[in-house]
Amino acid sequence: MDKFDVVIIGSGPGGYVAAIRAGQLGLKTALIEKDKDLGGTCLNVGCIPSKALLTSSDHFHFAKKEAAKHGILLDNPRVDLSTMQKRKDKVVKTLTGGVRQLMKTNKVMVLEGMGSISAPGKVLVKSSSGETQEIETKNIIIATGSMPIELPFAKFDGKTIVSSTEALCFEEAPKKFLVIGAGAIGLELGSVWNRLGSEVTVLEFLPRIALGFDLELSNLLQRALTSQGITFHLETKVTGVRVENGRAIATATKGNETLTFEADKVLVSVGRRPFSEGVGAEKVGVEFDEKKRIKVNKHFRTNVEGVYAIGDVIAGPMLAHKAEDEGIAVAEILVGEAGHVNYDAIPNVVYTYPEIATVGKSEEELKAAGVTYNVGKFPFTANGRAKVNLTTEGFVKILADAKTDRVLGVHLICADAGNMIAEAAIAMEFGASAEDIARTCHAHPTLPEAVKEAAMAVAKRAIHM
Ligand code: NAI
Repeated sequence: MDKFDVVIIGSGPGGYVAAIRAGQLGLKTALIEKDKDLGGTCLNVGCIPSKALLTSSDHFHFAKKEAAKHGILLDNPRVDLSTMQKRKDKVVKTLTGGVRQLMKTNKVMVLEGMGSISAPGKVLVKSSSGETQEIETKNIIIATGSMPIELPFAKFDGKTIVSSTEALCFEEAPKKFLVIGAGAIGLELGSVWNRLGSEVTVLEFLPRIALGFDLELSNLLQRALTSQGITFHLETKVTGVRVENGRAIATATKGNETLTFEADKVLVSVGRRPFSEGVGAEKVGVEFDEKKRIKVNKHFRTNVEGVYAIGDVIAGPMLAHKAEDEGIAVAEILVGEAGHVNYDAIPNVVYTYPEIATVGKSEEELKAAGVTYNVGKFPFTANGRAKVNLTTEGFVKILADAKTDRVLGVHLICADAGNMIAEAAIAMEFGASAEDIARTCHAHPTLPEAVKEAAMAVAKRAIHM
């Protein structure tokens, strides 16, 4: 086999996007994947299947609770979970198949097997049937992603104590569903099973949910999810989970109290850790940080010549779109271009109802950094389209520098916040002021008009408030 220009280990959104960009740039590229299907966690057991279930369960919620308000009368809507799961699987298959097609279009050679660096410029591929081959390459990109963190006192058994992977595939809604950790995964999957009939309890170690988001968003989301039937126990540290006769019994401490929770299924969603072992990085002397993430410079290069890393396996938010941007940048860097990732303008979304979406700094972060800022807020109760849609819960909050009016953070809690955050990310990418957003014409009647109004509210001149 000829020598490659670049070999990428891992076909998640970081790796496969890097492969496409490298192919576009004329590099002789190989992509190694240990799993049967391409696409990594995001396409197979993460973003895509979870959004499929969130959408389906939201439709069920609409049929049961909202349709009658629109004059649509549906008698006794029920869930056929098997059809719902099959639809989810079909979406996943279509998208992973699409990635494989894109590899062909971009002349990327796909090699099935576990890839590991055997020496600088050499990668060993061991297929599931045990065959091995060694390939030579000028450059290696490690894009092996991350895996769920396992709690030592609540080891995954795949049946009763599960990770997000199994919680996407239940054949029936658990009667009692216990979620450990109120991050994106716990809140999204908690929402899915709550909508599908489970009694959901979320245990969170911190005094708040959705860490990483502006506190006002987290607080309102907690209220909204509570009113939908989810029970939260904050400042509650789980200390043990045991399984008895197929049921889980979790113990937790809250202040001086010891609490016990019984459930049919327990989801452990306490974060993810980089998948950095077994890839041969240590063997060639690649350095790691204290969290076992691969250390890279601003060009994604490790301390070893010709070895690069991107995505969840390096520092930064564990988000598919961050990995994708790094994938494009690293391929461009390999051909001598600059590459571009703006870490100050990476949106983050939790796809609950309402959705929360954020880009830039929260109020807590600005206060801690001693930055003076103005706040512009606009509620959806005053937005025409939200009234039409019956989705008036939530608000937009824009934080702008008190001296320059530059937008420092945009925070949305509302229906469709995940789609709406895009304009805020573009504004921040271009260094917009609140005034720039305020003077940008927004179509009427739409939800994004609330973003314009919040921008106007920064200078205390919102129109509909
Ligand atoms: P996370 O790190 O977002 O949240 C985990 C939570 O678990 C934290 O709030 C933590 O305080 C809590 N916790 C830890 N140990 C605990 C204990 N013993 N008892 C009670 N609470 C405990 O982790 P999560 O939700 O598992 O997500 C992993 C990664 O995947 C994150 O980086 C997330 O951003 C990403 N992700 C993003 C999604 C999105 O963009 N919509 C969807 C799903 C995942």
